[in-house]
Amino acid sequence: MRKKIVAGNWKMNTDLESGKKLAVEVNQLIAEKGNPEVKVVLIPPFTHIFAVLNSVNSQRIEIGAQNCSSESKGAFTGEVSVEMIKSIGATHVIIGHSERRNYFKETDEMLNKKTKLSLEIGLTPIFCCGETLEQRNAKNHFSVVEEQLNKGIFGFEKNDFEKIVIAYEPVWAIGTGLNATPEQAQEMHFFIRNLISKKFGNETAENISILYGGSCNAANASQLFANQDVDGGLIGGASLKANDFLGIINAF
Ligand code: PGA
Repeated sequence: MRKKIVAGNWKMNTDLESGKKLAVEVNQLIAEKGNPEVKVVLIPPFTHIFAVLNSVNSQRIEIGAQNCSSESKGAFTGEVSVEMIKSIGATHVIIGHSERRNYFKETDEMLNKKTKLSLEIGLTPIFCCGETLEQRNAKNHFSVVEEQLNKGIFGFEKNDFEKIVIAYEPVWAIGTGLNATPEQAQEMHFFIRNLISKKFGNETAENISILYGGSCNAANASQLFANQDVDGGLIGGASLKANDFLGIINAF
């Protein structure tokens, strides 16, 4: 059975003290009343990873990075390698977030390299895909997502592919307060699972967790998660408030 996952992407928010405080709060709430069936991943800025890791029960909460370099090591000033991320104790890494694709011009080729390096070192990639509003309005959303998956991750061997978590994040829903409807989310998640099934077989498709991201909050999460093919969420804004994040974890 595939895992239910709720991951909190803090983006470029919190300083060290407020980040530690948030991690401690989340840790406590989860210990007291978090749904034990849900895997929880906190994804703070790089600078806080070590402190956050030391502020939570690592048996219950895993830590991820928001990005990694597409190069493995060397003279790449400002970059952070998968080896560094792994060595600090993180287990997950977000790859291909739309903010990286759009603002930092990360290409499918780079994202493919990042995913490959992550898999090689044993980090779980949370690979993001999703269309813009223009693409949806032009009814190209399915083909856009298919192409992102084809170029980013469908070229891996089955045993590597199976280690990836996919996050469907329609760009128009991210940080806008306008979440995809449960029907829109389910429709795309079903489409993605079907593509996986065609490429890697039904068993692989059934075992891959596909998360929804984009203005998911404590109020709408249960409707989104009630869908057959929605296995959890990649949460931005609502992951910055411990109680809201707990509400999402408990929304299954
Ligand atoms: P949001 O962000 O929940 O603030 O919309 C989600 C994401 O970008 O991962």
